[in-house]
Amino acid sequence: MLSLVVVDHPLVQHKLTLMRQKHTDSATFRMLLGEIALLLAYELTRELKTEPIAIETPIAPMQAPVLAGEPPALISILRAGNGLLEGVLKLIPTAAVGHVGLYRDPQTLEPVQYYFKVPAKLDQRAVLVVDPMLATGHSAIAAVTRLKEKGARDLRFLCLLSAPEGIAAFQAAHPDVPIVTAAIDERLNDHGYIVPGLGDAGDRMYGTR
Ligand code: URA
Repeated sequence: MLSLVVVDHPLVQHKLTLMRQKHTDSATFRMLLGEIALLLAYELTRELKTEPIAIETPIAPMQAPVLAGEPPALISILRAGNGLLEGVLKLIPTAAVGHVGLYRDPQTLEPVQYYFKVPAKLDQRAVLVVDPMLATGHSAIAAVTRLKEKGARDLRFLCLLSAPEGIAAFQAAHPDVPIVTAAIDERLNDHGYIVPGLGDAGDRMYGTR
């Protein structure tokens, strides 16, 4: 898989534009995020391994492909990751689900883990990490580092929006993990927000601001 995939599908771009608009309400924002998640997940999962099984159609027996091995693990970086998670789960309902909670220490600005619950056998699964915003990249880098410590080897990272700074930092830390995103915006501002971006994804999803 390419190390960076920008999904420029017209439906994705249309829905993303609606999400960016500041007057889009939380219910609409969540609905659009779920819909885009489905479309992005299609790209994210393009190279999952399959294996043939013997089946019978009404006409004839055949060898047909199914996903190979353990079902993928879907890992949501809390809390905004949950918005993408729900959509991806619709496409891969058999996936095992994990959550990683990180907050930014106000002094050091480094991510601090407050929650970590992930499926077993990460070493035998495709591990799909989701977080809508790849801004500084600190949370995504820390989450993937922890998942690797738990055995994950076959990882992919899905975000809705990314900043060039976040992509560079993530690729420097985890060059083996492909990124799938709907857009690469201009830059980060002084507060670590993506410009032009869409604001705080968690606040936009849950109306907390
Ligand atoms: N997190 C967000 O929710 N939005 C940004 O722009 C950056 C990080």
